[in-house]
Amino acid sequence: MLGVFIKPVSGVAGEIRVPGDKSISHRAALLGGMAHGETHISNFLLGQDCLSTLRCLKQLGVAWERQGAEVWIKGEGMEAWQEPFDVLDAGNSGTTSRLMLGVLAGSPFAVTFTGDESLRSRPMRRVVDPLKQMGAQILGRQGGNLFPLTMSGGQLQGQTFRTAVASAQVKSAIILAGLRASGETRVEEPVLSRDHTERMLRGFGVEVLSHKTTVKVNGGGCLSGQDVSVPGDISSAAFFLVLGSLVGHGELILPNVGVNPTRTGILDVLKAMGADIELLDVVEICGEPRATLRVRAARLKGIEIGGDMIPRLIDEIPILAVAASLAEGETVIRDAAELRVKETDRIRTVAEGLTALGAKVEELPDGLRIQGQPTLRGGQASSLGDHRLAMAWAIAGMLSEEGIGVEDMGAADVSYPEFLTVIEKVAR
Ligand code: S3P
Repeated sequence: MLGVFIKPVSGVAGEIRVPGDKSISHRAALLGGMAHGETHISNFLLGQDCLSTLRCLKQLGVAWERQGAEVWIKGEGMEAWQEPFDVLDAGNSGTTSRLMLGVLAGSPFAVTFTGDESLRSRPMRRVVDPLKQMGAQILGRQGGNLFPLTMSGGQLQGQTFRTAVASAQVKSAIILAGLRASGETRVEEPVLSRDHTERMLRGFGVEVLSHKTTVKVNGGGCLSGQDVSVPGDISSAAFFLVLGSLVGHGELILPNVGVNPTRTGILDVLKAMGADIELLDVVEICGEPRATLRVRAARLKGIEIGGDMIPRLIDEIPILAVAASLAEGETVIRDAAELRVKETDRIRTVAEGLTALGAKVEELPDGLRIQGQPTLRGGQASSLGDHRLAMAWAIAGMLSEEGIGVEDMGAADVSYPEFLTVIEKVAR
């Protein structure tokens, strides 16, 4: 057996404080660096992706200090950012690189971005084209589609964009560039993507107008440093919602999980499948709602999902596929072609990985068709360097008959470094 062996469990119990939300941690660091005055962030995610954002900020001359999950950023405004001495390495992080390209499009100097093998294969044209139209100069492999990319920023002109895909990274890059452009910048999405950037910008004192799937900002907005309390990441909680639902017995309590409606598709879909999940004590802090989630064992049935639901649970599809493989009947996931350009091609890697573990999965051009079975055999799986696959296979191992050896389980460090310790703690 290769990698970390995850053995089957019959029950779970306990309370899990999932780490800070990845999307919100990135934005808190970035907006803190763009603001004037000190920003204090609590419950910052110490995953590799968010550490990449902090590292790149330091290279751009933004001063910060960190103690555990608390970060203090000494913002001196975007004008104070300096040309970096070296290439900016965003590691595995699409959010670091795409959002920073947006901010830096208005800076009068050159930056070169690169990343790991996965990030160097992911499409950047979706942010490069709009930023070029606004006035930035960008050169890179495949006509500016692939990292490494070099951008020389400067005077930007506000524009209106209709994006082809619902992507919060693209929307955010354009809005952040729009803050430094002349006139108005408007983004219209086909379906609403996560709106953390809009919410947080308002918290930092910038006017952002949102109506349905359209967002508007005016250039020249000034951000002032804030206190940001990051909620727990619902994308990390999702692994325990599936484990708690499908394990033989027990209950898990997940306090302080972010429940922004643009992220709660996983709750809606698991509940529609028959899951016993309750939201307790919903409160809004720093513009982001959060709640305690309670999950108990239940019988799940298959479901069909697609359309507007997909952006609300795009990152949860690997673990949802594990749930579907143990639900009664068929699950069909459509309209999710975006999965092909995530950290791995998650349509192919999920279909192949789950099939090797004994599940019945068919790859569709834009999704998956999964025939649920009463049990999952188990065996051998690899994360292929994708954090969400690592954790999905670990949960599958706990729910399997024979357990699963997960190769490169360390990939989970990208968004949930304590994951293995936590699953050991709650297993009964
Ligand atoms: C994110 C947006 C989503 C998501 C990613 C984080 C963000 O990507 O999959 O994990 O923080 O804006 P896309 O914008 O490519 O859909």
